[in-house]
This record gives sequence, C-alpha cells and structure tokens, in this order.
Amino acid sequence: MTPTAPTTPFDANERTAWAGRAEDYAATFGRLCAHTVPELLDAAEVFGGTRLLDVGTGPGTVAAAACDLGADVHAVDAEPSMVDLARRAAPSARVELAVLPELPFPDAGFDVVVANFVLNHVGRPLLALAELRRVLRPGGRLALTIWSGTPGAGQALIPSALQAAGAVRPPHLGPLDPADDFPRTPDGLAALLTTAGLQSATCRTVTWDHHATADTWWSGPASGVATIGLTLLAQTPAIQSEARRHYDRLATAFHTPNGTLALPHTALLATATR
Ligand SMILES: C[S@@+](CC[C@H](N)C(=O)[O-])C[C@H]1O[C@@H](n2cnc3c(N)ncnc32)[C@H](O)[C@@H]1O
Repeated sequence: MTPTAPTTPFDANERTAWAGRAEDYAATFGRLCAHTVPELLDAAEVFGGTRLLDVGTGPGTVAAAACDLGADVHAVDAEPSMVDLARRAAPSARVELAVLPELPFPDAGFDVVVANFVLNHVGRPLLALAELRRVLRPGGRLALTIWSGTPGAGQALIPSALQAAGAVRPPHLGPLDPADDFPRTPDGLAALLTTAGLQSATCRTVTWDHHATADTWWSGPASGVATIGLTLLAQTPAIQSEARRHYDRLATAFHTPNGTLALPHTALLATATR
C-alpha cells in the first residue's frame, strides 16, 4: 500500500464485515441509525425535485425518506445485499453498487449528497469527502452523520459487556490508520469537511434514546453485525456466553417500565456546501 492508495486494509475489512448482513443490520443497528434521517434530510434542504445521492444507503432508509419528500433519488452501497434491500425499500430510487472513494457519476450532477453513518466506515475519510464534493453541483449541499467520539451511555453497553467478559478485538479489525483519522468532535468533523474543499461547514451534536428489547439489541452483534459483532463472533463460546451474562447485568441500568431498554446515543450531524 502506498500513502496515496485510495483504500486501506480497513476498507477490505469493511467489505467482509458487511457481506450478507443487510437483513440483520436492518433489524437491529439499522433501526438505530434511522433516528437521524429526518434531521439529516432537513439539514440537507431536500425538496421536491432535488437531485439527491444517498451514499452508503444500507437498507435504503434515507433513500426511501427522500423519495417520500419528492426528491429524484440515486443511492449506492458497497454491499450487494444492502443494494437489494434498498431497491425494495425505495423502489423509485435508482440504487446501484459503488464503493467510496470512487463513485460512478460525473462531476457536479447532484444538488444534495447525504451519507448517514458511512464516513466512519471508510479507510480514507478525506478522500471520500473529496469524492462526495466532486459529484455535488457548485452550491450543492452535503449532509452527513457519524458517531461522536463522546458516546452516549447506551453506546457503551455492548462494548462494556464484551470487555467484562475478557473479549479481545481481533487485530485485523483495528482502527483507522492515525494518519487518516480525525477528531470525532463537531470542530474536528467540520475541519475535515473544510480540508476536503467544502464551504461553510457546520457540525452539531445529536442525541436520542434508542428503544429496543434486550434480546433485539443483543441480536445485532450476535449475528455479526458491525465491528462489535465480528469481535463477539471471534471469541470462544465460553466468552460469548459470558459476554451475554454481563450484557444482561449491565442492561438493567437502561430498563424502562414497558420492558424495553432506553439507550442514549450521540452522533455528529455535519453540513457543508460545494
Ligand atoms: C452503518 S451502515 C449505514 C447505512 C445507512 N446509511 C443507514 O442509515 O442505515 C454503513 C453502510 O455503509 C456501507 N459502506 C461502507 N463502506 C462503504 C464504501 N466505501 N462505499 C460505499 N458504501 C460503504 C456499508 O455497506 C453499509 O451499508
């Protein structure tokens, strides 16, 4: 790998991590990520006829909501099972397979580009942003979310359970190369957008409680969704069942009277223009 290679081993791990996981993601973490969709589309200033690209569409939640607003929607994802699901969720959108940081679109073809919890899944965030900028028309608007570096208490539940069980993250699922990383703060994300050549970058924190039953919330990692799921599945059966035991113990702090967990989450929502 050279310093200027468009992808890194982090990207290769992402391809493996999402392979065939669309349905499991949609039933678990996809519901969590759906919370930011109205604010994201509001921040992106989507109207009837807006030419919108949803990058990393996953199960198509953002694409479907944008179609409901009357936008002219394209959507892409790097994972074929996600593309299949998104086509079903947003039948009037044009959904195709494409992998950041290279999109199969000409320059300046979109009024709006959105990416809900995707920039945190690419090996070279700055290159990815430059590509999102490239496909925006001058004056066009980018809106995206990532997880905050200061997570809500609910975000720590599953990692804490794994840690208490002695689970160790497999080395190949390591974090971004520090040379590609950036501070996961409002200022850090806004600065990255500016470095990518975008204008008037702003970023704010979004917080909410995600509600799910304890079993449903556990079923995400238990079915191997995301890095936390791959980490869980890489453990011995004894450590996996110990992790579940710790999860049930720690989850009591989040129980609500109606039997679900209320899990506080914190994300960053950034906007900028080309
Ligand atoms: C956390 S999910 C978010 C999905 C969707 N935006 C949502 O709100 O539910 C991340 C998605 O980004 C996709 N993805 C990851 N890396 C990508 C890349 N380099 N190019 C395109 N899509 C990517 C994954 O396949 C996955 O569907």
